[in-house]
Amino acid sequence: MTDPALSELLDLALEAARRAGALLRDGRPADLGVAATKSSPIDVVTEMDIAAEKLIIGYLSDFRPDDGFLGEEGAGSPGSTGIRWVIDPLDGTVNYLYGLPTWAVSIAAERDGERVVGVVEAPMRRETYQAVLGGGAFANGEALRCRRPAPPLDQALVSTGFNYVGHVRAHQADVAQQLIPRLRDIRRGGSAAVDLCDVAAGRLDGYYERGLHPWDLAAGDLIAREAGALTGGRPGLPADGDLTVAATPGVFEPLQAALDELGAWHD
Ligand code: IPD
Repeated sequence: MTDPALSELLDLALEAARRAGALLRDGRPADLGVAATKSSPIDVVTEMDIAAEKLIIGYLSDFRPDDGFLGEEGAGSPGSTGIRWVIDPLDGTVNYLYGLPTWAVSIAAERDGERVVGVVEAPMRRETYQAVLGGGAFANGEALRCRRPAPPLDQALVSTGFNYVGHVRAHQADVAQQLIPRLRDIRRGGSAAVDLCDVAAGRLDGYYERGLHPWDLAAGDLIAREAGALTGGRPGLPADGDLTVAATPGVFEPLQAALDELGAWHD
């Protein structure tokens, strides 16, 4: 039975994500432009990223004013309850800017530093992914299971993403070029949160990326693991900004080893 404290966090995350997803879907201005840039001129923020983060933090704070927050668009406070919300109000901002459908709201809750709840709301796909630690992963009420049996690595469909900083991208392109002949194919969906949920749903055999932030991966990592996928970073390390790897067991180990051999975590 799910811990009632976690059920409360899950319900709040689901409702905050639903409201932010509706705002982003229904409120996207026709003349949407770039409001600011971050790590490079192509790392953009729109007015809608900012509005969605404000909505999510406002909603969660109404119910849990003493919790901590870490949000992509600047929200940050340690809180005093041991619960911290890790929020990407709009993961896949470039897709959203261009009107492509693959983007999502990602909300995770950590308890004493451990991820315990993850919600990824993908409005244009009409999909809500959710997981509670130890309770399995679900999409629109259906249990998720990563792909089984796992194919050999050279038959695996693997997604990746590219960082916004020039020298990191150049190295990522080099790694991808060397990896492609060892896989069935590579995809670049444009939202790390959705990529991780696609691994959970068995639509991808694996996913990897260097340079993610905690808000990109917090919810999706828990959803993937609760669906039976393995996640990690460099061999023996957890998924982090150096390297995030998620895959069905059987693909995870050779993919992680190949990425390690190719030096995917550095340039
Ligand atoms: C980005 C997306 C993208 C990934 C980038 C992320 P954002 O998040 O997840 O797929 O390749 O590394 O920064 O900026 O759209 O929230």
